[in-house]
Amino acid sequence: MTELVRLERRAKVAIATIDRPERMNALSWATVHRLGEIGRELASDPGVRACILTGSGEKAFCAGADLKERQGMSRSQVREMLGAYRSELGWLASSDFVSVAAINGVALGGGLELALTCDLRIAAQAASFGLPETGLAIIPGAGGTQRIARLIGESRALDLVLTGRRVDAAEALHLGLVNRVVPSGESLLEAALNWLEPVAEGAPIAQRAALSSVRAAQRLPLEQGLDFERQAYERCLDSADRDEALLALSEKRKPRFQGK
Ligand code: COA
Repeated sequence: MTELVRLERRAKVAIATIDRPERMNALSWATVHRLGEIGRELASDPGVRACILTGSGEKAFCAGADLKERQGMSRSQVREMLGAYRSELGWLASSDFVSVAAINGVALGGGLELALTCDLRIAAQAASFGLPETGLAIIPGAGGTQRIARLIGESRALDLVLTGRRVDAAEALHLGLVNRVVPSGESLLEAALNWLEPVAEGAPIAQRAALSSVRAAQRLPLEQGLDFERQAYERCLDSADRDEALLALSEKRKPRFQGK
């Protein structure tokens, strides 16, 4: 069987590549489960500081649900699939490491929802984005309505969800749908890896504390969020890396972080 999602490592960064270019990297049942398996594998490896999720080929990041497979699915199988999106892909938003969608082509429907589940997004100039589900008489069902509204605001989210229109990378950047766009001719993956270097090389305890604290802002009322931040800060304050950072500053050298 061909591998549906390839997993490789570049030092502390894992790279997961959906590898079904003949189906525009669409999310079949098996692909979703393979992504879940990858999440579980990476969770047991404390050396992973970031995970880049991308698609193979130049055309598609992911064209959403595998519509060919979907045609043969019963309603109850579709319901199971919706549950699997949540259980198998949720790690992208909750792991100890940062997740980054490197959007190399079209990100449509569940493909855009997959990118929205990641913490950060970087896109190739030629990428395009859309949530066409209402045109198919359904709605985004992999967290899309919730995550896009939180990310870009209700009004902009409604524009994309109700019209299903496609936007290009420049508009996606303007909307705040992606953090960065990489000019054509430059390597998207290398740009993502360069972007992540401070994360991969940074102090692990502080990186985890910062990630969990900013994520918490999405779900907690401000007072509770401030308490959360305070506790996260405590973990940094108690760390040997924090002392090393101050020492390195006074000795005018780069710090050597141990994750302690
Ligand atoms: N699921 C399964 N197969 C898909 C797919 C999907 N979501 N999207 C594309 N494919 C397949 C096509 O069926 C085609 O295979 P075939 O040649 O065996 O028929 C192949 O990928 C290439 O697609 P094609 O449409 O010929 O390429 P394109 O470059 O003209 O267009 C897309 C690419 C992605 C824009 C177009 O295929 C599309 O709009 N797909 C549907 C996306 C969608 O609506 N997703 C949301 C689902 S809720």
